[in-house]
Amino acid sequence: MIDKSLLPQHVGVIMDGNGRWAKKRGLPRTEGHRRGAEVFRAISTYASDIGIPYMTFYAFSTENWKRPEQEISVIMDLFRNFLHEAQDRRAENEERGFRFRFIGDLTVLPEDIRSLAEYMEQNNPERGRTTVNVAVNYGGRSELVRAVREVASRVQSGSLALSDVSEKTVSDLLYTSGQPDPDLIIRPSGEFRLSNFLTWQSAYSEFWFSDVLWPDFTTDDFDRALEDFARRNRRFGGI
Ligand code: FPP
Repeated sequence: MIDKSLLPQHVGVIMDGNGRWAKKRGLPRTEGHRRGAEVFRAISTYASDIGIPYMTFYAFSTENWKRPEQEISVIMDLFRNFLHEAQDRRAENEERGFRFRFIGDLTVLPEDIRSLAEYMEQNNPERGRTTVNVAVNYGGRSELVRAVREVASRVQSGSLALSDVSEKTVSDLLYTSGQPDPDLIIRPSGEFRLSNFLTWQSAYSEFWFSDVLWPDFTTDDFDRALEDFARRNRRFGGI
């Protein structure tokens, strides 16, 4: 059991390897996503059990629209199911202290998903033990462009002085406003990239990589990442 004071406050997870997992079994890629959504549930629950306050899962990037229509449609169905489930299990989630958020540009998502996401966010408990961000149609660069536009608009209207624009100004305009930056980012499936995930927020994140494909990822793998993180010496540019 890891010393609680050494637990990360925020963990980002790139849920990668679903397609390869399915291919290895002769299954359609979408089966990998279905299994991946179950692992998302299991890891979120475990993170809340052990007291991690923030989790961010990369579920669909601004680049994922390039995938076949049928695959996108199944992923959208998985979001839909999750949102319905969040509605049905409101009491249970509240008791557990889950707060769920969708981060990313939701404006282009199917209307029903947008309104379910809005409903979910409005009905989150005031206080919670674990905030789970699901990044959907999310891209770190587009998140920054959105923040830059807002800064420019405030400067132009005179409500913000150029000399007052700080790192905090930018952080406060990101989807993760008010949340700590991720201490740890986990990427399974043997890839060593950030892929436009939490571009600004990851400036001082620790990274943990594994060959395990996301649908095979277990709480034991998560523990390994946490144990490794607990041993890291973080200096944030100091000595
Ligand atoms: C990347 O693996 C995975 C995705 C683009 C989709 C991830 C989505 C889910 C796990 C569903 C999430 C659902 C909820 C409710 C949060 P890949 O397909 O690129 O894998 P590959 O590199 O092996 O092809």
